[in-house]
Amino acid sequence: MKAILAAGTALLSSSLLAGALAQDTAAEKAEALLQQMTLEEKVGQLTQYSEAWDVTGPAPTGDVAREKFEHVETGMVGSMLNVIGAERVRKIQDYAVENSRLGIPMIFAYDVIHGHKTAFPIPLAEAASWDLEMIELSARIAAREAAAQGLNWTFAPMVDISRDPRWGRVMEGAGEDPYLGSKIAVARVRGFQGEDLSDPLTIAATAKHFAAYGFAEAGKDYNAADIGTVTLWNVVFPPFKAAIDDANVRTVMNAFNTLNGIPATADEWLQRDVLKGKWDFDGFVISDWGSAVEMIDHGVAADREDAAFLAMKAGSDMDMESYVYRDHLKDLVEAGKIDEELVDDAVRRVLTVKYELGLFDDPYRYIDEGREASLLFTDEHREASLKMAERSVVLLKNEGSLLPLKEGESIALIGALAADKDSPLGNWRGQAEKGSAVSLMEGFEAAGIDFTYAEGAAVETGDAGFATEVEVNLDDRSGFAEAVEAAQSADKVVIVLGEDALQSGEGRSRADLGFPGVQQELLEAVHAANPNTILVVMSGRPLILTWADENVPAIVQAWHLGHEGGHALTNVLTGAYNPSGKLPMTFPRSVGQIPIYYNHLNTGRPGPRDVVFWQHYIDESNDPLYPFGHGLSYTEFDYSRLRVRNRGDQVEVSVRVRNTGDVEGEEVVQLYIRDRVASIARPVRELKGFEKVSLKPGEARRVSFTLTDEELGFYGPRGDYRVEPGAFDVFVGGSSEADLTATFELSRD
Ligand code: GLC
Repeated sequence: MKAILAAGTALLSSSLLAGALAQDTAAEKAEALLQQMTLEEKVGQLTQYSEAWDVTGPAPTGDVAREKFEHVETGMVGSMLNVIGAERVRKIQDYAVENSRLGIPMIFAYDVIHGHKTAFPIPLAEAASWDLEMIELSARIAAREAAAQGLNWTFAPMVDISRDPRWGRVMEGAGEDPYLGSKIAVARVRGFQGEDLSDPLTIAATAKHFAAYGFAEAGKDYNAADIGTVTLWNVVFPPFKAAIDDANVRTVMNAFNTLNGIPATADEWLQRDVLKGKWDFDGFVISDWGSAVEMIDHGVAADREDAAFLAMKAGSDMDMESYVYRDHLKDLVEAGKIDEELVDDAVRRVLTVKYELGLFDDPYRYIDEGREASLLFTDEHREASLKMAERSVVLLKNEGSLLPLKEGESIALIGALAADKDSPLGNWRGQAEKGSAVSLMEGFEAAGIDFTYAEGAAVETGDAGFATEVEVNLDDRSGFAEAVEAAQSADKVVIVLGEDALQSGEGRSRADLGFPGVQQELLEAVHAANPNTILVVMSGRPLILTWADENVPAIVQAWHLGHEGGHALTNVLTGAYNPSGKLPMTFPRSVGQIPIYYNHLNTGRPGPRDVVFWQHYIDESNDPLYPFGHGLSYTEFDYSRLRVRNRGDQVEVSVRVRNTGDVEGEEVVQLYIRDRVASIARPVRELKGFEKVSLKPGEARRVSFTLTDEELGFYGPRGDYRVEPGAFDVFVGGSSEADLTATFELSRD
């Protein structure tokens, strides 16, 4: 017995020694540092300031900037956002590291949303590519450029699911579906964070906004979100959980909105029970800009001290631009109102991420003025942006094969957006130079297309900014005559209409989703002059295109495509690239249908019926104009031989896809299921698999999917995951309206 004990003791001591000698983990280092910190220094780590140079929210003015630097020097600031450029970051990092008692490095953040110096398509456009590899590459390049400018953290990806195109921030997300949204969230986080967070060309990512910000009532930004727990668990939460489980996202940002009456920043159930508890999230939570102090306006915090109390108690670890932790957290702890352990937990999380980034090994590892110049806006990055943009374009309609444009055709190119070199950069364009995008007109010129340009009508008057509204041109039609004349004398018309980049994004909700200003009138006048009209829509969201669908033979959704938008769009319109995009969001027929989405419930009164007593409008169809997953190609694809094999613990589904046209093309093969009978009502369809395949003319391929508990189960109202036996339908095709179907019986005995 003694021998066994002795051997055990020896083994234990050797393993402890090994442990002590082994490289301490980031968490262990953070713990050791935490023990040395004063309460004031701890509070400092939980305070984030914006650089006075650039603000993305309602920030104070005056000599706040000087005061901020004093706090940096005394270690009272753990992080800053909006500090741009290696030289500037070095200066501020120097203040913190060289002057504060413990020399704790700061972490520098920025909104790297769709590219950094090289603008990529807006996230909703990238989602339309359904190309996870390209989406990951886009984020990887954005991370390289941001890191080259000294940044170590982005407030992206936004993973908010939304079913409401009135909400301006749909441009920033991945659309209406939790399955596609989860896959894209993982791709973007992996792109930003890479394999090694301490690599000076990778940055920490943020899954935001937790939670349900995309369900703002009436699509009005910052409005209340009131939704049931089944929608929360099965639609809103999955992309956040995927970003944590499958990509180890290091930070989560909470949200401005109340969720069922509780401001997200004060929601202990969200941040502690679900995020840090059930999901075991070990990164840290950053508040949204001022979201802590905004709880006073919400009528939940009595004052700034109360805001600090509620936010810390609820698990909001770092305070962005409220200054309430700086001003009140120490007093709250010393008065015994907040347990210092809560502060320690928050600080431990922040320090752990800083260690993981390698900032303690070298606070200047992301700062290299030489590399900054060599890594920004390179040809390689622009080439990737072009490739991403081509794949993001969705061909909505192409009657009579008006597209692609044919060699030698004369084209009338019409619309202010056709010559716009700024809007393609998108709403949250980071450090992309204003007006530096390739316009469609420049794309046509480069491609040698024979075209005449006429503006027709300006979209806006005056000069909008990130924080100021666009003034819409509501009455200047002086360019109509020239546009009509150009249309009359051309073989075809390409008219580009839609939104300025600053008419979608944060703070840009719209109640009317038609073309802003006089653009619809211009469209009708030009179409009347030449019915061979191709409508190109540049927008940050689904617009109402019903008149166009009824009258215009060809329609292309071109979003805001980034720096190379003009070349990408030209390649699609000429057929140099065969469009392959599929809609990540439903396009309504009218605003009155919103919210309208494919994965809806059947209700107790589905239709149609020959009496009025069923779920429908008496003045509008129930159907969307274009459904989720819709997108055409210059070729066609045939689906056949659907096979379903029930293997007990998983179900194998396969289908034969053939290119029946005469050009090569890519198709996003989509798999949907329907759980016919369950303990809660289940959607009539749910996306549970997709694969993008490229097929030559006549080529056929069998595409296979596997359905496991992960795809077949769902969450109950209390977040319990359920996989229930019974009949399931499967649907496979090129959109959510796929009609090739089969059924299987799931048994779970
Ligand atoms: C903004 C946005 C958030 C962004 C933050 C910092 O108001 O809501 O998404 O990351 O402030 O710019």
